[in-house]
Amino acid sequence: MKRVLSGIQPSGQLHLGNYAGAVQQFLELQHDHEVFVFVASYHALTTSKDPDELRHNIRQVVIDYLAFGLDPSQCHIYLQHDVPAVCELAWLLGCVCPKSQMDKATTYKDKVAKGIPASVGLFTYPVLQAADILAVDPDVVPVGADQQQHVEITRDLAQRFNHAYGNDDRPVFKVPELMLRQDSALVPGVDGQKMSKSYGNGIDPFMDEKPLRKRIMKIVTDSKPPEETKDPEESTIFQIFAALAGRDDGRTVKLAERYRATGEHGMGYGEAKQALFELVMDTFADARNRRVELMADPTHIDAVLRDGAEAARAVMDGVMRRVRSAVGL
Ligand code: TYM
Repeated sequence: MKRVLSGIQPSGQLHLGNYAGAVQQFLELQHDHEVFVFVASYHALTTSKDPDELRHNIRQVVIDYLAFGLDPSQCHIYLQHDVPAVCELAWLLGCVCPKSQMDKATTYKDKVAKGIPASVGLFTYPVLQAADILAVDPDVVPVGADQQQHVEITRDLAQRFNHAYGNDDRPVFKVPELMLRQDSALVPGVDGQKMSKSYGNGIDPFMDEKPLRKRIMKIVTDSKPPEETKDPEESTIFQIFAALAGRDDGRTVKLAERYRATGEHGMGYGEAKQALFELVMDTFADARNRRVELMADPTHIDAVLRDGAEAARAVMDGVMRRVRSAVGL
């Protein structure tokens, strides 16, 4: 069975971009793959400076994973700080990683441009991500398109390490494959920019009904009147809808037709927003109910995390023995 690894940073409430870009893939893969999904708590420290808020966000990501439908009997869920071996591996990978490779990482530049302090942790963030991945020997890493460069860096570091310490018959690391969903476009936020936990432009599928509706009504549009034809591909509302329902879904096809219609058959943006609101309520009806139950059952969450960390550590112990021995420790 192929092994899968991915993670999400607890840097704020999960949104439709995280769901469509990443979680949807985890849900599909868990039936016939060995799936490891974790909460990237060490990574969140590159931006989060409030301990209570971080504690809350870490817990919330786990609850949301389970509410979305990750099934702990089919998939291992754990916290990054319950497997500190990844920090040791990050150090070992850092010693084969040319500094110039970090200089090229676009996420660092983007974050610094957004005002996040340029710490050493932020600079070497991709090395820790490579360690998260390589520590469990996965075959595939399902992520959204904004993480593509990080997975490519991981592949490169695995190859460098193999070149330095392995031989062709016995590589130290398996070189994992990137997995993007079919429609790999990033999901835009209510302001039309990439939806992000830290930009305040997200749509949280677990919001109460009224504020959720209000949030969706806030999505930016141009000023075309209902009777004018519209290109769905240029519309933020449509892009979010298509990411969530799927491009080939009948509802998406129908909405695209409504966009193109003209005259008295034309559609106003209010109608498109209402369709998106109904889609979100419909898609997450079960998840919303499950989440209420999960919030009331902290011992269940603790047990899931204990089992997940145990399974991850069992794999990592073997990998770390191999890596330490390869470098001469
Ligand atoms: P993070 O927490 O920013 O995002 C989690 C996942 O959601 C995807 N995603 C999106 N997909 C489509 N449209 C969007 N607007 C959107 N926003 C986020 C991301 O691509 C990601 O798959 N560095 C990672 C966390 C991480 C990790 C790892 C991931 C740490 N170690 C090892 C995989 C493997 C991050 O910040 O993701």
